[in-house]
Amino acid sequence: MRTDRCGDLRLTDQGRTVTLCGWVSRRREHGEHLAFVDLRDRSGIVQVVVDGAQDLRAEYVLQIKGEVRQRPNETTNESLATGEIEIEAKEVIVLSEAEPPPFPLDDRTEIDEVLRLRHRYVDLRRDRMQRNLATRAKVNSAIRSAMEEQGFTEIETPMLIASTPEGARDFVVPSRKEPGSFYALPQSPQIFKQLCMVGGVDRYYQIARCLRDEDLRADRQFEFMQLDAEASFVTQEDVLKFISYAVLSAAEKITGEQQSEIPRMSWLEAQERFGSDKPDTRFGLELEELTDVFSSTEFRAFQASCIKGIRVPNGSDISRNRLDDLTEKCKQWGAQGLVWMRVEKEELNSPVSKFLTEEEQTSLREVMKAEEGDLLFLVADERHLVRHILGLLRLEIGRPPVTEGGLNFLWVVDFPLFEGVDESGNPQPAHHPFTMPHEEDLELLEAGKLLEVRSQAYDLVLNGWELGSGSVRIHKKEIQQKIFGLLGIEAEEAQEKFGFLLDAFKYGAPPHAGFAFGMDRLTALLAGEENIREVIAYPKTQSGADPLTSAPNPIDDKHLTELGLRVLPSQQ
Ligand code: AMO
Repeated sequence: MRTDRCGDLRLTDQGRTVTLCGWVSRRREHGEHLAFVDLRDRSGIVQVVVDGAQDLRAEYVLQIKGEVRQRPNETTNESLATGEIEIEAKEVIVLSEAEPPPFPLDDRTEIDEVLRLRHRYVDLRRDRMQRNLATRAKVNSAIRSAMEEQGFTEIETPMLIASTPEGARDFVVPSRKEPGSFYALPQSPQIFKQLCMVGGVDRYYQIARCLRDEDLRADRQFEFMQLDAEASFVTQEDVLKFISYAVLSAAEKITGEQQSEIPRMSWLEAQERFGSDKPDTRFGLELEELTDVFSSTEFRAFQASCIKGIRVPNGSDISRNRLDDLTEKCKQWGAQGLVWMRVEKEELNSPVSKFLTEEEQTSLREVMKAEEGDLLFLVADERHLVRHILGLLRLEIGRPPVTEGGLNFLWVVDFPLFEGVDESGNPQPAHHPFTMPHEEDLELLEAGKLLEVRSQAYDLVLNGWELGSGSVRIHKKEIQQKIFGLLGIEAEEAQEKFGFLLDAFKYGAPPHAGFAFGMDRLTALLAGEENIREVIAYPKTQSGADPLTSAPNPIDDKHLTELGLRVLPSQQ
């Protein structure tokens, strides 16, 4: 139906007769007899000069035959790729009429989320969405190539799987054949990929759809895509290499910039310096250790097991209102309070200065490398709380917008095996119960120093977002039993929960390790978007609804009966 795409035409096409198809992006009258129509297709926009009498409204779908000609000099539009030419229409066919669009299609207007998603087919016509979908396809393709180049085989795992007793976040599907029984939709292909390793697949990957019934946020949807991978006879080092290669290839495809390696940081260092296990390393404002400075202080609020601080260069002009607001925030995050100090030439200007000795103030200035005009924030409490609060404060005051500061990938390694203990005194696994402890720390495990044991688990972070995580898995029965024992999982319970995996391991399990990262998150950050729904064709709203198809929706009684279900009256 067409000879060319709108956005491809250039001055070199001058004189050609072309046929184009697209939507009317804008129409402007030019005198009594002529009109300019901006015709838009996936490739871009071109200006068409048409007979002004024709009724061509916004979003009408047209087929236009005409001649490419140079625009008069003064009307050249440098911001448009086709800005040097225009089409003189000889024939205009209206392929479809259109009602006025429900919202403007430029990228400047902020539009209500529900309205956008209800008319997603119109929203997708916008430049931003076209660009993002194209970016997503390129990322998918780059990741696939990179995994295949490295010898990984693409394998599809099932969507209807067994619900596990721990699957509180499972979406479930009722069985018609077995009323009262349910399938679960996979939160990830974790178990199946490990079974693939037992099955001799050696290197598995999949761009897998995962489903989790969680509260939605900017970086979370019910349905999302993971690059999921697992390999046999490999170490943590190998996995980091495979995955680095894949994400860096995708980044290069989109930005054109080459990066050969991703820096690493231990979990402990990340916590101490950035107060987070997913540090945004695009900016400084690091946490400084001050516990020693105040080790014998008389000031009650500083008599804590840990004190850390952040120095904001030239921050002393931050207003008192803002400081009160930040203090309030810190309290909501669990702090007893937030101490701030304006660094002046002779003194530290702060409500608490009078409680600190001369010595403490000098030493504080030194450790913080404080200079006149800076602002200092201090928090004293238990170590994990101090890190957590200052980590959040750091993001609050310093985090650049998503489009600034480049792409800071970071591997966070050496996660602790357990992140704490529950009410009954059982340690809680930081990753999942199949994560292999650090070889060097097996003795600590034996000695019962559980919270000191590091695991062979690793996360990939990009600009402060957790992009993915993975681990070396336990493939030996004795270690697995030991961990289950520590977690308070009895043999019987283990068999009930993970029986098929444990059974499979009896038949020759190779040492294996793997990883998964969020494709939506990677694509969003590469596309410069703050919310993953901008890179998903048909996402859900923040409340989990799809205004386009009205999902979720009730089903009729007949259907319910067939499934052996009855709906109880709403509890609310
Ligand atoms: P994990 O649960 O950490 O690991 O998930 C891996 C990555 O998937 C992405 N992700 C999400 N993206 C969008 N919306 C969500 N609701 C959502 N939940 C997770 C994140 C996350 O880092 N099987 C293990 C991996 C392994 O050990 O191999 C797993 O799923 O980017």
